[in-house]
Amino acid sequence: MFETLKPLPQDPILQLMQTFRDDPRPDKVDLGIGVYKDDAGNTPIMAAVHEAERRLLAGETTKGYVGPAGSAGYNDAMASLILGTDNALIRDGRTAVVQTPGGCGALRMAAEFLRLCNPATTVWVSTPTWANHLPLLGGAGLTIREYPYLNRDTLQVDFAAMLESLEGAKPGDVVLLHGCCHNPSGADLDLEQWQDVTTLIQRKGLLPFVDMAYQGLGDGLEKDAAGLRHLASQVPEMLAAASCSKNFGLYRERTGALVLISETASINQAATSQLLSVIRSHYSMPPAHGAAIVETILGDSDLTQQWQSELGGMCERILHLRQAFAEALAPAGDFSFIARQRGMFSFLGITPEQVRALREDHGIYMLDSSRVNVAGLNDKVLPQVADAIRSVL
Ligand code: LMR
Repeated sequence: MFETLKPLPQDPILQLMQTFRDDPRPDKVDLGIGVYKDDAGNTPIMAAVHEAERRLLAGETTKGYVGPAGSAGYNDAMASLILGTDNALIRDGRTAVVQTPGGCGALRMAAEFLRLCNPATTVWVSTPTWANHLPLLGGAGLTIREYPYLNRDTLQVDFAAMLESLEGAKPGDVVLLHGCCHNPSGADLDLEQWQDVTTLIQRKGLLPFVDMAYQGLGDGLEKDAAGLRHLASQVPEMLAAASCSKNFGLYRERTGALVLISETASINQAATSQLLSVIRSHYSMPPAHGAAIVETILGDSDLTQQWQSELGGMCERILHLRQAFAEALAPAGDFSFIARQRGMFSFLGITPEQVRALREDHGIYMLDSSRVNVAGLNDKVLPQVADAIRSVL
């Protein structure tokens, strides 16, 4: 039966990661896949994570199953991190959080859950969006529609076009929004725009679904969640997918969470039971280790403080690099949008041929769309990268 299958190309982001690894040039620069890097070009293990792992190794007493929802302690900690401590939605029992294998696991389980609610569900995603959103959501059988998000000329959010397009959504349609640090553009909604889109969602009876993959890497943990929290405070139902890959640096531990908010506590109990049954039929239970690390950190005030200060340092560093990158490119044109955008990514707005020349002639790797991972820069390589970009323009 397998002989009928045709070979597929690799996912472009993962393919680029491999090509970079295979490139023997010592001065190559990786601005491709979205992982944070320090000044030495390493993706470090945070000290708070190291310490939590040390404590886990010393104190762990069992490898017994965790159950489809994962660890209750982790789920409670993630609810507070995402929605804010003391949020009425948590107090009133309108919120359930389940531990998932990464943000991808949360996105896919949400999609399977939505299909269970209504097999004809349509989900609206931004153009552009993270490429993996399409197979993760569409692969569960949801219909994908796109709303314009980024103006390709200004590389800023075209909010009027976004709202106009979403006017075409029908009651019950799902709107996927990036909580902060829009991937791939770095162009975020401001709070006023979150309020306006919330009003539209309420008026049209849409279901918001927020992907929060970069909380803490834009403007800080609280500010990055402000739009999501406003939305959650206004709507009867909502979904959110969260990832600890970036803000805890737990990429390979596959640590995420799915947040389910319902109109009442009893609706939420029934909905959660359905969600858990969806999970059971897919992967049964999430892996424990990454979530145990997060639970250990968030359950200890010293470790929490240490983690927040490390994350704050990463966030500051990205902001610094954004500023320095925009300044270094200034002689070649107006790249000031890079300093205004947030998170790891921005589009340079250059052609695929220019991207190829940067890769082949200069060993500088970015996605064909010209998405760069700003966190892959450092003060040492920045002049080299800026010179190379100027030379291909
Ligand atoms: C990215 O967009 O580069 C990251 O989210 C990593 C991935 O899995 O694509």
